[in-house]
Amino acid sequence: MASIPEILFHPDAANNPQEAYARIHSECPVTREADMNGNSTVYLTRYADVMWALKHPEVFSSAPGAVDIGQSQPLIPLQVDPPEHAKYRRFLDPEFSPRRMAELEPDVRALTNEVLDRFVDKGGCEFHQEFATPLPSALFLRLMGLPQSDLEMFLGWRDDTIRPASSDPEEMSAIRDRAGKAITAYFMESLAEKTRNPDDGLLTRLANGEIEGRPVTAEEKLGMCHLLLLAGLDTVTATLDCMIVFLARNPEMRAQIVADPSRIPAVIEELLRWDTPVALVARMLTSDTEIGGVEVKAGDGCAVVIGAADVDAEEFERAGSVDFDRPANRHVAFGAGPHRCLGSHFARLELRVAIEEWHRRIPEYSIPDEVEVNFTPAIRQAMSLPLDWPLTKP
Ligand code: HEM
Repeated sequence: MASIPEILFHPDAANNPQEAYARIHSECPVTREADMNGNSTVYLTRYADVMWALKHPEVFSSAPGAVDIGQSQPLIPLQVDPPEHAKYRRFLDPEFSPRRMAELEPDVRALTNEVLDRFVDKGGCEFHQEFATPLPSALFLRLMGLPQSDLEMFLGWRDDTIRPASSDPEEMSAIRDRAGKAITAYFMESLAEKTRNPDDGLLTRLANGEIEGRPVTAEEKLGMCHLLLLAGLDTVTATLDCMIVFLARNPEMRAQIVADPSRIPAVIEELLRWDTPVALVARMLTSDTEIGGVEVKAGDGCAVVIGAADVDAEEFERAGSVDFDRPANRHVAFGAGPHRCLGSHFARLELRVAIEEWHRRIPEYSIPDEVEVNFTPAIRQAMSLPLDWPLTKP
């Protein structure tokens, strides 16, 4: 019988995760696997087990080690466990409230249309490269109060950290390290500038903020900036890729949102469930325990496969079908428990406006017949996504 990592990290699973998850649920929903060095990883895929793990951070810790993009300080608040974690969320949550996000909507819409303007009249584009990648960076710069002229630099760092241009592990690590140092230098300079010349952007409030009555330290500011950059760009790119592939392949479902754009928020929630773009999150076990009948040990790594939880037939009726009218959709695409996505209201704003404006301006589109779309594992981005659409005559 195959093991979870064999099924999960098989190249076919990246392109058809729902089938892989269904197989895992029926054959091996919880497993503990040892690698050649004797280190063990626990894999959780059932909705109930995933929720339990995410809601028990005292057992499933998020301490540093799981994510490394060349930063020298912990990513705040992702790599901080409760109770300390709460003080950072108290500081950051108001910055991402629905009201704050609503204030950004006109700018988000204008920037989205600027990206669309670059190719809408061409009858085609490389969606991943020309829309899903630059848009979240442009919107992130707006959120932070940074100049749009820094966009190209951001995109370079993104490539260097996510897909370094080398297959040699040492060289890859050196590229990541250089990018990490450049990002640190950039944020240190930008934070100093926002202290001298405050404006209405988020970076100004990070630069001049207080946590529990004392100024935010330089290390904390950098930890938050690094995390926002890491958490806020590729996640949105991946989600846009997944959604557009689905809508391109299912024209009759796409027609429903073109005819009635008010359905878009529900469509976004259902597609987040169906093709969960951040497929798994990492934890570390702090004590020996048992989960789903499997004994696990302190020090084990844990892959919490939220993508699998979102298509668990024990939790969702017709889990294997996409239903834009699904009544209760308690998907975990944004995580759960204390580390639930800080930026979910911003992400939802970005996604809604992007899907609205795209379909207003490009209601019909398709993936050329000869194209096979391949996705990356873990954070599900399309490696390349060419689209064509008919040009309407003036
Ligand atoms: C559709 C897009 C997004 C998805 C699917 C997503 C998904 C997630 C998930 C699954 C987690 C939980 C991680 C864990 O438990 O280890 C998370 C945490 C987080 N996300 Fe997002 N995210 C998205 C967009 C964003 C954006 C746009 C931002 C900010 C600009 C953001 C900022 C964060 C932060 C700061 C955390 C850590 C929260 C904490 O540790 O308390 N995310 N996100």
